[in-house]
Amino acid sequence: MKKTAIITGATGGLGQEFVKRARKENIDEIWAVGRNAEKLSLLKKRYGAKIRPVQCDLSSEKGLSEIAKLLETERPDVRLLINNAGMGQMGAFSSFSANEVAKTIDLNCKSVCLLCSYAIPFMSKGARILNISSASSFQPNPYISIYSASKVFVRSFSRSLAFELKEKGISCTAVCPGWIDTDMLVKEKNGKKIKYPGMTTASRVAAQAMRDSAKGKDMSVCKLFVKYEHLLSKLMPQKAMMKIWAKGIKDYI
Ligand SMILES: NC(=O)c1ccc[n+]([C@@H]2O[C@H](COP(=O)([O-])OP(=O)(O)OC[C@H]3O[C@@H](n4cnc5c(N)ncnc54)[C@H](OP(=O)(O)O)[C@@H]3O)[C@@H](O)[C@H]2O)c1
Repeated sequence: MKKTAIITGATGGLGQEFVKRARKENIDEIWAVGRNAEKLSLLKKRYGAKIRPVQCDLSSEKGLSEIAKLLETERPDVRLLINNAGMGQMGAFSSFSANEVAKTIDLNCKSVCLLCSYAIPFMSKGARILNISSASSFQPNPYISIYSASKVFVRSFSRSLAFELKEKGISCTAVCPGWIDTDMLVKEKNGKKIKYPGMTTASRVAAQAMRDSAKGKDMSVCKLFVKYEHLLSKLMPQKAMMKIWAKGIKDYI
C-alpha cells in the first residue's frame, strides 16, 4: 500500500508550500489536486516523481466523485490529507450571483467534509488531516461574508472531527492564517495598493501548520499578530469587531 498525501489546491501559493513539506515526510505519492492541467504538470516538473497530478474541480459533484473513485481503486494508505483549495472575494453579498455563492460553499465547505469522509476509511493511527480555515473565522466579516462564514464552518467541523478521531490516533488541525501573500489576494483596487495588516508568507504558515499537526493540535494559528486578533475576537463585542473590520476595508469595495 502506497503511503499517500492528498493535497488540494496544490498549485496555489499555500498549496505548493505544503507539497514541498510533504515531500520530506515518509510519503510515496502526493496526489496534487487542482483544476489547471498546465499548473499541475509544472508542479510535477518542479517537485518530481512523487507528484501525481489529479485534475478536477472540487466544487462539482463530478470532481468530488473522481477522488472517491481514485481512492476506491488505489486503496492507498492515506497518511496526510490537506484540504487547502479555497476561494473567496471581497464585495457586498448582493454583488455575487447565486452561482458564485453556491460554488464558494461547495468548494470551501462541502469538498472539505466529503474528502474527509472519503479518505478517513483509508487512514490509520498517525495519519493527519489539515483543513485550511482562516483568521476570518474568528468573527463575522461584512463584505467577505460567505468566505468568512465558510471558514467558521471549516474551523468548527475540524475541531469536532479532531475530538472524534482522537481515539483512532488520527489528528485533525484547523489552520487559521491571517493574510498570506498569494495570488488569492487582489493587490490593487481603483489604482490604490491594498494594505493587508500583518500579511505573512505561505512558507511560514505551512511550516507552522505542519509542526502543529505533527504535535496533534486541533488548531494552528501562525504569527503573534493573528494570535492577538484571535484573543481580541473573544474579548470584544462582535459588533465592535465588525465595525473596525468594515472601516478598514471600505476603501477597497
Ligand atoms: N491568501 C490568504 O490571505 C489566505 C488567508 C487565510 C486563508 N487562506 C486559505 O488558504 C487556502 C489556500 O489559498 P491560497 O492563498 O494559496 O490561494 P491560491 O494561491 O489562489 O490557491 C488556490 C488553490 O486552490 C485551487 N482551486 C481553486 N478552486 C478550485 C476548485 N474548484 N477545485 C479544485 N481546486 C481549486 C487552485 O488551483 P486551480 O485554479 O488550478 O484549480 C489553487 O491551487 C484557501 O483555502 C484560502 O481560503 C488564504
